Amino acid sequence: MRITMVGTGYVGLVTGTCLSNTGNDVTCLDVDPAKIEKLNRGESPIYEPGLDELLERNKAAGRLAFTLDKAAAYGPAEVIFICVGTPSDEQGRADLKYVLAAARDIGDAIESAEGPTGLGASDKAKIVIVKSTVPVGTNAKVRAEIASRTSKPFHMASNPEFLKEGAAINDFNKPDRVVLGVDSEDAGSRLRDLYAPFVRQGNPIFTMDIPSAEMVKYASNAMLATKISFINEIAGLCELYGADVDEVRRGMCADARIGNKFLYPGLGYGGSCFPKDVLACISMGDEVNRPTDLLAAVHKVNQDQRIRFLEKVDAHFGSGSGPADLSGMRIGVWGIAFKPGTDDIREAPSITLMKALLERGAEVVAHDPVAFETCRGVMGDSITYAGGMLDVVEGADALLVCTDWDEYKHPDFGAIRAKMRAPVVFDGRNLYRPASMREAGFVYHSVGREAVTG
Ligand code: UDX
Repeated sequence: MRITMVGTGYVGLVTGTCLSNTGNDVTCLDVDPAKIEKLNRGESPIYEPGLDELLERNKAAGRLAFTLDKAAAYGPAEVIFICVGTPSDEQGRADLKYVLAAARDIGDAIESAEGPTGLGASDKAKIVIVKSTVPVGTNAKVRAEIASRTSKPFHMASNPEFLKEGAAINDFNKPDRVVLGVDSEDAGSRLRDLYAPFVRQGNPIFTMDIPSAEMVKYASNAMLATKISFINEIAGLCELYGADVDEVRRGMCADARIGNKFLYPGLGYGGSCFPKDVLACISMGDEVNRPTDLLAAVHKVNQDQRIRFLEKVDAHFGSGSGPADLSGMRIGVWGIAFKPGTDDIREAPSITLMKALLERGAEVVAHDPVAFETCRGVMGDSITYAGGMLDVVEGADALLVCTDWDEYKHPDFGAIRAKMRAPVVFDGRNLYRPASMREAGFVYHSVGREAVTG
């Protein structure tokens, strides 16, 4: 199948590369010359395990190309995936300007290409798929925008993505499910064919109407975000009532109706999806005068989670109320990325925390296995970037664990204690056991568990 991806961001690049890997002829279009140049040199602009190798292989096989040329990209494409960004505007609504601009270009391309459907002699209509996460009703707007530029037939489809950063290649190749919102049986059967190689192990492809498919994405992400805020709220109660959230989680999760996923407390969810999608869902409710009270609370709990963690730092170093004065103190940070396996720092709790530490006068030294460059883009030289994880604790008055990278899970606490000015750890990911930290001689604060105060 001849496929064009519009937008070589995270979703477009992973989807395009994986679709080329099953033998499709994929062209990825972007407006950013530097990005296209980089991709044409075989370099990926994002860090995603396994992506570089797949990209190189399929590019070499001539199945994967990158271009700035709209006419060349749209003209021969049977299927066009719109994967451009939908950033939140000031009200938290998904901004559709890039999606609608792509729709206009597609309309013009269909109109100017030869043949009854813009595909030469073929009478098969092009399928335009919105893969960007968009509010319910966006496909209808995209259809109207394309139809305002051409009277030739085309199909619309919604195909939400459920990729997790750091595991995106595996998620694409073995999806739990594929969701297709289609406007016709023809589009449905052609897209089921496209995805058939990825569900050979028997996972379902759900074909449904377009608004339902658009809603599946928001409902799924909002549900997962709700689980995280729920356990964070319970963790707060555990701290005040002397319960241990790890034990509570184990006890709860034995009930199959509750399940055992996405119930780990921490610093709250970050990344490019959950925060943005929860806000977009809230504003979808506002627009139709149906307030989404539960999701508003999910968002608030998530924001508060970082503040509560910071309050632990303030309480340890300060006089009891308000922000502590951290002048002259050196605070080490382990983990900058919003989660392990990625260099993405969008909505990363570490950034909020490091900014707050700087405001309190501290010197901040941070380590992350991959997220230095992305962090430098936001924090500049306001913090020190440590080459190794142990450099962070040298002379430090406290260590903050912000990301649960594997390499932080079993550190040599003897060596760490010897290097630190004071043995104090604030663990935002519950990586260590309070009892072991007490034994190792640390002051230790985590989330929803006993504090070890010495
Ligand atoms: C998410 C969805 O999982 C994916 O289906 C969707 O397509 C995009 O958004 P991603 O943002 O890559 O993927 O990360 P994910 O692994 O889901 O984690 C999101 C955030 O939740 C991270 O900040 C993580 O630390 C946090 N989290 C996750 C918790 O705090 N507790 C948990 O139990 C699980």
